[in-house]
Amino acid sequence: MPLFTKENTAPERSLPRHIAAIMDGNGRWAVKRGLPRKAGHAAGAEALRKVLYHCRDIGVRYLTVYAFSTENWKRSEEEVGALMVLLKRYLEEAIDSMERERIKLFVMGDLSRLSPELQALSNRALEKSRTVEGMQLNVCFNYGGRDEIVRAARKYARDYAAGKAGELDEALFSAYLDSAAIPDPELIIRTGGEQRTSNFLLWQSAYAEYYFTDTLWPDVTPAEIDRAIDAFNHRERRYGGAK
Ligand code: IPE
Ligand code: IPE
Ligand code: MG
Repeated sequence: MPLFTKENTAPERSLPRHIAAIMDGNGRWAVKRGLPRKAGHAAGAEALRKVLYHCRDIGVRYLTVYAFSTENWKRSEEEVGALMVLLKRYLEEAIDSMERERIKLFVMGDLSRLSPELQALSNRALEKSRTVEGMQLNVCFNYGGRDEIVRAARKYARDYAAGKAGELDEALFSAYLDSAAIPDPELIIRTGGEQRTSNFLLWQSAYAEYYFTDTLWPDVTPAEIDRAIDAFNHRERRYGGAK
């Protein structure tokens, strides 16, 4: 029985409004089974579906997942190709089902390096999301935290030079990031045993709580998400202050 359901979410526990996840361990999951790495990514996409619906059902407003980093182009053509196909299927399905499932979908990252077809699908998902009421899934694809910051800095510099932007402060800079209008994640989960950010949400994670688990992403269940939320509820968040 999952710890958090619509019915039993204890009011004294705080539910993160925004959860982010570094979905790591797909390759190892597949290799352990003697399968090609791409089978791990397919299983990972299934796990994401379950996690997403669970987050929606317990009232999480934003789920941001790391699906393909700016560094993941280093992988074989076959693996990169398989990840592109999975994104395409995911987008097509989401466009079809977002109204029914009440889930908006936004792709974060440098889309300019994706195929015209994937760019068009991402834009369609964004357009259709405007008409949907519900939680928001952000899929980070060809995403890197440093790349996002550099792209934002370029956009700001252009606007400033054109007299369209004032002096820079944190709030203004945030508005130039892919995550503009999305609150910072309170909780970042990394599966697969590694304890590093791998260039994920560098700006937005300033005061996020991290939760690391050895569970490989395709094995993640709603119960694991509940454990992460439970751990989050035992953290003391001080934001630089003193007790
Ligand atoms: C995460 O799983 C998904 C992507 C990076 C696309 P990995 O493919 O990195 O899985 P491991 O870390 O090799 O097991
Ligand atoms: C991070 O995982 C990127 C994604 C989950 C998409 P990686 O497997 O690429 O990260 P490293 O290589 O272990 O740092
Ligand atoms: Mg990995």
